[in-house]
Amino acid sequence: MGPGPASRPGRPPLAAALCAALLMLLLLPPALGAGERRRLACSTCRGIADRFNQGLADTAKKNFGGGNTAWEEKTLSKYESSEIRLVEIIENLCDSSNFECNNMVEEHEEHIEKWWFKLKKKYPDLFKWFCIETIEVCCPAGTYGPDCLACRGGSERPCHGNGHCDGDGTRGGDGSCSCNKEYTGDFCLDCSNGYFSTLRNETHSVCTACHTACKTCTGSSNKDCQDCKEGWIKNEESACVDLDECAASPCKDHQYCLNTDGSFSCK
Ligand SMILES: *[C@@H]1O[C@H](CO)[C@@H](O)[C@H](O)[C@H]1NC(C)=O
Repeated sequence: MGPGPASRPGRPPLAAALCAALLMLLLLPPALGAGERRRLACSTCRGIADRFNQGLADTAKKNFGGGNTAWEEKTLSKYESSEIRLVEIIENLCDSSNFECNNMVEEHEEHIEKWWFKLKKKYPDLFKWFCIETIEVCCPAGTYGPDCLACRGGSERPCHGNGHCDGDGTRGGDGSCSCNKEYTGDFCLDCSNGYFSTLRNETHSVCTACHTACKTCTGSSNKDCQDCKEGWIKNEESACVDLDECAASPCKDHQYCLNTDGSFSCK
């Protein structure tokens, strides 16, 4: 912000600092939305917990010759919960280029130390203790958002097992469902076009592909079509059968028309 307060006696330094901070905020819009940042924070934390567990495994056999002398046992048990081991593990939690990760470890190192020295017996799952319950960047599976609300369809089987819950397991998202291709609707209980229901109750829905001739259907055969797919037509028995496009001579004079299931080609 230009010259310091000494050269501008009329302006209190605090106001100048506030002005600078405000300007920074206005000039640097957040690159990610809040929801995206929350999701990223959770995956960063999950990465840290995974690397911590990897570090535990990698250091498990350290300082241990394989024999079982009393001296080794004693050294081992000392090392097991030592600060030395913790430091070794923490050093390998993040790749040096991973800013988010290094930031998170630095910011919460005291929590990790507290867990290591006092809490890991009682709360052996670091991910759960650290990421979900302590720094609150993740949620239990099947829940989403700042307050870890249940996903649509419930936390046991989000989206009734037929889709993905937005923000599942993170403090981001809105809990809505993106359904697998067979399913549709807010709760992924309805069948998409081209699929029909083979099981449906309050909690479960199974949709199965229609016959290839149907656009929509109520069963598995070409007689169960509600509408035929393009290139297919209803016959006298109201089954969808292939339309012979070649009957209408759609090709150029010198070409040969080849009728195929649901289509045709000119050779
Ligand atoms: C719904 O169907 C599923 C799968 O067949 C079954 O396990 C479940 O008990 C059924 N629920 C009810 C309420 O009938």
